[in-house]
Amino acid sequence: MIDITAEISGVKLETCVFNAAGPKDATLKELEVIAKSASSAITMKSCTLEPRKGNPEPRYCDLPEGSINSSGLPNLGYKEYVRFSSLLKKYHKPVVASVSGLKLADNVKIIKVFNNSEADLIELNLSCPNVPGKPQVCYDFEQSEEVLDAITDVCKKPLGVKLAPYFDFAHFEQMAGILRKRKLAFITCINSIGNALVIDPDKESAVIKPKGGFGGLGGKYVKYTALANVRKFHELLPHVPIIGCGGIYSGKDAFEFILAGATAVQLGTVFIQEGPSCFGRIQKELKDYLKKKGYETLEDFRGKLKTLD
Ligand code: DHB
Repeated sequence: MIDITAEISGVKLETCVFNAAGPKDATLKELEVIAKSASSAITMKSCTLEPRKGNPEPRYCDLPEGSINSSGLPNLGYKEYVRFSSLLKKYHKPVVASVSGLKLADNVKIIKVFNNSEADLIELNLSCPNVPGKPQVCYDFEQSEEVLDAITDVCKKPLGVKLAPYFDFAHFEQMAGILRKRKLAFITCINSIGNALVIDPDKESAVIKPKGGFGGLGGKYVKYTALANVRKFHELLPHVPIIGCGGIYSGKDAFEFILAGATAVQLGTVFIQEGPSCFGRIQKELKDYLKKKGYETLEDFRGKLKTLD
């Protein structure tokens, strides 16, 4: 028997593969599709204090190897996701609440209410690139410290942070230093690569409407950046579970993330493009690949990436 189960802060996942915050997870109907799929957890859309309609459409575009989006946090407001976390319990899978308040006081208020909810894990999103006028918190190290101090103080559930990608070793070390000092149940790497620009040369136009066409890049374009972020944070914080996200389309992709040090993986763009069958397919591909390699569990190879030096 091949075992691809995972555990994060005592929360058991039947497999290490589940959905990322963002795609098709804002309404109860969408969340029930995820609940009924093979996804091993139900991650809900990042929520704010008040409901939001999000940015003007078109705000998402499929690309040959991925996606660009500038959705702008369309969500029903956190109270609905607190309610959904109870309604989703009947599916017997962990529920992950994603919290993305527009200011620190909002995050504190939201987390305090989720403390008394049925959510199993809380993913604090410090990396949304798509709200005009709101820079990504995790690129501001001082603000990140302030937010994490306040949130780790009030949060009573296993708390993780979702980070944007970093591209410089000094920045990895700075963020790792901040995270090391706080009690975190997990880190999710990576959010989309923020503020990419996709151009349609025939129309001589941007492909999405918000922010002059700038949006978060996802899918295969970001896989190597995502792997680098998982690897670096695993090296710097070896005892913190890492959830890998970014360009996972196959079981082999998932294998690479675990080899880099991930404990679990989330699927974003592939879920939009393929639908809920992606979860079972990638889980099966991962199991088949382990079998071919003679591995029985993820622990057999997690983090054991070879380097050439
Ligand atoms: C949105 C995009 C993100 O990458 C994120 O982390 C949160 C929200 C959005 O545009 O809705």
